[in-house]
Amino acid sequence: MCGIVGAVCERDVYAILIEGLKRLEYRGYDSAGLSLLNNGNITTQKTIGKVVDLENLFGESLPSGTVGIAHTRWATHGVPSSINSHPHTSGPISVVHNGIIENHSELRKEITEQGIKFSSNTDSEVIAHLINLNVCTSNSLREAATKALSRLDGAYAICVISTDDPGKIIGARSGSPLVVGLGIGENFMASDQMALRQVTDRFVYLEEGDVAEVTKEDFSIFNQNGVLVERDVTQINELDQSSEKGEYKHFMEKEIYEQPKAIINTLDGRLSGDDVLNNIFGLGSSEIFKKVKRIQIVACGTSLHAGRVAANWFSSISELPTQIDYASEYRYRNPHVDEDSLFVTISQSGETADTLAGLRYAKGKNYLSSLCICNVPTSSLARETDYSIFTNAGPEIGVASTKAFTTQLVALMLLALSLAKSRGRNPKLRARVVAALRALPEILLESLKLRDTIVEIAPDIATKDNALFLGRGIFYPIAKEGALKLKEISYIHAEAYPAGELKHGPLALIDEDIPVIAMAPDSEIAEKLVSNLEEVKARGGILYVFSDPSISMEIESGKLIKMPKCDFLLTPIIYTIPLQILSYEVALLRGTDIDQPRNLAKSVTVE
Ligand code: AGP
Repeated sequence: MCGIVGAVCERDVYAILIEGLKRLEYRGYDSAGLSLLNNGNITTQKTIGKVVDLENLFGESLPSGTVGIAHTRWATHGVPSSINSHPHTSGPISVVHNGIIENHSELRKEITEQGIKFSSNTDSEVIAHLINLNVCTSNSLREAATKALSRLDGAYAICVISTDDPGKIIGARSGSPLVVGLGIGENFMASDQMALRQVTDRFVYLEEGDVAEVTKEDFSIFNQNGVLVERDVTQINELDQSSEKGEYKHFMEKEIYEQPKAIINTLDGRLSGDDVLNNIFGLGSSEIFKKVKRIQIVACGTSLHAGRVAANWFSSISELPTQIDYASEYRYRNPHVDEDSLFVTISQSGETADTLAGLRYAKGKNYLSSLCICNVPTSSLARETDYSIFTNAGPEIGVASTKAFTTQLVALMLLALSLAKSRGRNPKLRARVVAALRALPEILLESLKLRDTIVEIAPDIATKDNALFLGRGIFYPIAKEGALKLKEISYIHAEAYPAGELKHGPLALIDEDIPVIAMAPDSEIAEKLVSNLEEVKARGGILYVFSDPSISMEIESGKLIKMPKCDFLLTPIIYTIPLQILSYEVALLRGTDIDQPRNLAKSVTVE
């Protein structure tokens, strides 16, 4: 969501902060700001707009300062404006904050009663004032910050600097991620290590309730009880190509084309012969899986759609029932937990606040165990879950999830196979699916070749205000994913329905202004689906049907697009590709901001 960068160095930190903000910009981008400490003074600059607008405030003359904090904001409390941008200041204090302070109204009232005036409408500004109010009764900036933090309800990751205590940054986390980056004679902080990959590859991940004191030579971390603790230093080895678009126009385009390779990486080291390897979800997982009688999935957005597809696989391959919930709803429905239920979260970022809150809630329930499917091994979700599998898709920068989704599906299929193996179910089917998984990257390459055909149909859809996506069974969640992708980056209203539901209402919408995009794989209900599509045709609807080569249908208005052949159980992955390309091409024609669509953030770290 929002992004934080901090640096304390011998050299000027401005360029480090700006580069860090640019790397985080995909997370939140309605405004940006920074504070630099130079010769005992803090200079703060903030602006509405993107990081480049912040840079423009400085023009040619780059500002000096060896200690600094910076922020990109995605508004939650208070409209996007330069006043509401971070850092927020109070006396000697300057603060950046990610998260939401739930008791900000009462704190604001209390602080105002002490004669202090607020400059912004944000919840975050209370943190700056609270720290300042605690300065005179504290021995250090860290002590003042710790006292202030004890007053906050909600979620935060913060970085604080002060003219009274120069040469250091205080950072703290509770509910929002924060990492310390270690350099030589310089140290850093950020809400995501990706912001600091240009300056270091060594990181310390703060745990819940931690407060860190960082100087250029050293760092120390205190846990939620104020006790000095040791935290592991993690060295990141992977090559950082994430910030480069290379030959592509957008990160989304690049990430669509990365999918065959990403899936190879998801499968790497997880299959053996015609089965899955044991314990690929962590030591002891195969034993635990023997006991599982039910699965509960909790996720948001695209990750939830992956879960909906997988629920079908858990049923047909692992022979297990699955309950699936929006993470934002799960903990508010007082869920009944059956004995021996496995709690599964799915998340690209591993920092989605609702999904994390779902996991934390589930830990207080009688689940057998928890497991996550995640793309970021260092994320909070990965660290707090009992068992995990990493999708290894590489960083996904485009707000619209593409390779994260297809690799989640592959990882979820590995879970279905592992559960079936531990439970001694369906060995022949497992062998069939494993062979199909091995063939999948090649078939994906075939799917990507459909781009030219999709380019032809994109103009018909780009001129419309609405679109309807249809699929049946395992393809209904794919229809939902197609609709989400289209609305997210092209701003066209799109809805998804199971095709059999059409005649129960949505058929009334059909006319030449609402393109209908349908998926027709070779399934046992293919004929029924074709009948549903005939109902659309009969009402003058325009149909774009992605179908198995065996399906024959006459389409006068629209187009029938033949998909490459693949094992039915994996067809959802193959059919997703043209839907991603379609939304991308439509958005290109409509000239939207594809990688950073309006009002959205890549990682939603507030509830
Ligand atoms: C999809 O294109 C999205 N941008 C969004 O729905 C996303 O999948 C959702 O916010 C969940 O994110 P996560 O996978 O990082 O938890």
